[in-house]
This record gives sequence, structure tokens and C-alpha cells, in this order.
Amino acid sequence: MDRIIVEGGHRLVGEVHVSGAKNAALPMLAALLLARGTHCLRNVPDLADVRTLCNLFEIMGAKAERGSGSRADAITLTIGDVLEPEAPYELVRTMRASVLVLGPLVARCGRARVSLPGGCAIGARPIDQHLKGLERLGATIVLEHGYVEARADQLIGGSFTFDVISVTGTENLMMAACLAKGRTVLENAACEPEIVALANLLNAMGGRVQGAGTPVITIEGVEAMHPVEFPIIPDRIEAGTFLVAAALTQGDILVKGALPEHLEALLQKLRDTGASITVEAGGVRCQGDDVILPTDVKTLPHPGFPTDMQAQLMVLLSVAKGSSMVTETVFENRFMHVLELSRMGADIRIDGKVALVKGVQHLSGAPVMATDLRASASLILAGLRARGQTEIRRVYHLDRGYERMEEKLRALGAHIERVKR
Ligand code: EPZ
Repeated sequence: MDRIIVEGGHRLVGEVHVSGAKNAALPMLAALLLARGTHCLRNVPDLADVRTLCNLFEIMGAKAERGSGSRADAITLTIGDVLEPEAPYELVRTMRASVLVLGPLVARCGRARVSLPGGCAIGARPIDQHLKGLERLGATIVLEHGYVEARADQLIGGSFTFDVISVTGTENLMMAACLAKGRTVLENAACEPEIVALANLLNAMGGRVQGAGTPVITIEGVEAMHPVEFPIIPDRIEAGTFLVAAALTQGDILVKGALPEHLEALLQKLRDTGASITVEAGGVRCQGDDVILPTDVKTLPHPGFPTDMQAQLMVLLSVAKGSSMVTETVFENRFMHVLELSRMGADIRIDGKVALVKGVQHLSGAPVMATDLRASASLILAGLRARGQTEIRRVYHLDRGYERMEEKLRALGAHIERVKR
């Protein structure tokens, strides 16, 4: 298993281009199952999760190909008349977002057999809302042998209110409703930018989705949809991770391609800690200050502070001049990075959903272990700031969501390298 070794204490200065968003690419690739023909998505990040989903498409009988040369950012997906609508456990257990094929397959093929994703490091991650919503649209759902069997000769539009705000739950039902008969109204829907991006793709395919980005989304079912060529939006979480890196190292980084309107809550928090944030043509710049101020933060569904940035901001707060309260309201176990940060000298105490982060003078490099995607990013950030060398193990977690992270950081002045086992 690869390891990443970071030598701390170097300011990061320069420009970095943000890649396409993992959490937009996955639902948008799944949406292509709704229409026969050859589709092309552009600006698709080259990530383990994207490769896993493309493997799943191949198993189902579709053909997924990544371009080369000037089209290396593109994935071409050819969907034939016949699809084997099954997502096996071996694939789903490595990437729970595979559950996103459930809605499109039921809508398009009338049936789907998808392994239950099970939990992961950050929480139980149930999919009850996905299943309740599909039943509301007329699907029959049977759970057995660790699989979801969903069937519907024809989905029928209806109204569904989410008990909890679910990003992929909203995405699954938006996609399924596109081919349902009649109108579907989703209430208490997620408002993330990735939901809007998916709705824009579905409409480009001939779907009729209104209200994405608000808690009420209306979908008018259509008879059929058609293939498209479409771009993926920039990854706001990767962008935010680089902005935190600038604040953490008293650096000065222009994150090209970052969309400030996707990052408002994070930009506000970075300003609260004393960083200087400026929106420039084509990106967002962060300049770190010598003094990092404490601030309290609570993760919430969009437009609140994103849970996917909680671990990264905590690293910044761990060296602030004072104490900060970090409240994680979205997932029940998303403080796995705290134990590893503590081994680097951070002073963090957890009480249920709240972590009290008492700023320390400095972090010290140490061998640490990544537990999940965003925790691995936070450990790299901590290594950039720490005195001495930090070795991060199990970086396969990082590779699920960050494209060439160490290369991008090295180009900004970081002393970082990947050691392949
Ligand atoms: C998406 O996960 C993202 N993943 C996550 O990013 C992100 O952290 C999360 O949304 C919240 O923003 C993708 O988009 C592929 P949820 P998702 O359904 O959809 C509970 C990353 O690091 N819930 O919005 O799985 C659930 O347990 C990943 O890039 C139910 O109870 O998250 C959680 O507490 C991590 N029943 C809360 O809702 C359900 O049926 C939010 O989950 C569904 C969810």
C-alpha cells in the first residue's frame, strides 16, 4: 500500500487547477444509464471511485472509455439496448455511491438488483430514504441476501418528503422520476451544487427538472431521454482543501476554477480565522496570516458549512490562537481524524457531536494512518504544517477523491512524495 511522506514547514505559493468534482461525476455518470446511445462527460476527474463506477458499467454491459491526449478528461459511455441491471457486492462495498445506479436502472429497465452498501468509517450510511422514495414512485422493494431488489413495470410520479436531507437520496429519486409517468415533487430535498449540476445534465438529456438547488424539486416524467456531451463542475471540496493549505502554511494560493458561489460558508470561516480571501478572474485566492484565529463551526447541509470540509478546517483550528468548537451534525462518526491529529500534538477533546479544539503552538510530524477520504486529506494538511516528517499510510482513501494531490501540492512548494510499496 502506498504511503505519502511530507516534510512540514514550507509555505505554499502559486496557482493550482481544481479538478472536476467527484460528487458530481458519480451521479452524472449514473444518470447516463437513462438514455441509450453514446454519451460523453468532460472534466471527469481520474479517481478510484470513477474507475470503480466505470467497471460497474462494464459489468452491466455498457462500454466506458476514457479519452486520451487532449480528451484525457473525457469519459465516453455507450449504453446499449440491453443492460444487466445488477451491482454486485464486490464493487458496491468499495464504493457506496454505486447505489446511484438504483434509480436509473429501475426507471430504464424496470428492475435493479444492487448490493446494500453497508456502513463505512464515518457512519452507518443507511439508504432507507432512497428506498422509501422509490416505493413512493411505485417500485416494489425486496431486501434479501444483502441486496436490494427493486422492480417497477412503470414508475408513477408522486410526492415524497425526505425524513432527512440526503444528497444521493435526492439524486437517485430525481433520476428515477425523469422516466416516471406524470409529475414528481421532492420536498426537503438536498440543495448541494452537485444536485443542480445533475439536474442540468438531466434537462440536457431531455428531462424536465425544476427547482434543483432548492428544497422543492419538481420533475415531469418524459417518455425517453437522449445522449449528451456535458461538462462536470469543479470540485468545491478539493478547492476548499487547497484554500485551507494556504491559510495553514501562511501561503498564497490561487485555486483556478474554484467557484466562490459553491464555497461561501467555507470562505466565511477562513476569513473568520484571519485568512485573506479574494475572488479573482478564474478562481479564488487565499493568503494565510501569521496568526490563525479560533472560530466555531457546525457542519450542515448546503448552503451550510460542508461536512466534507470539517476535517480539513479542524487542522487549521488545531494551531489557532485559542479554542474552537467543531460540531458535526451530518454524520455520526466523522471524527476519526482526531485520534491521528492528537498523535501529532493537537489538543482536541470529543464530546459526542462536538470536538473542542484547543490551539497549540505547533504540530509535530509522526507516522499516521488515514481512515477515510477527508481524514486522509486532513493528515496531509497537518503534515504540511508540522515540524519534521509525517508519513501517512493507507492513502488509497485519498486516491478515491483527490486527483494527483501530492503532485499539485509539490508544484506549490510542498516537500511531499508518494512511496509506492
Ligand atoms: C454525499 O453522501 C456525499 N457523497 C458525501 O461525500 C457527503 O459527505 C454527503 O453527501 C453529505 O454532504 C457523494 O455525493 C457520492 P447523505 P450521501 O445521504 O449522499 C443520513 C465525500 O467525502 N441518511 O446526504 O451518502 C446519513 O446517514 C463523501 O466526498 C439516512 O439516514 O450522504 C447521513 O447521516 C463522504 N438515510 C445524512 O443522512 C438515507 O437514506 C446525510 O447523508 C440517506 C442518508
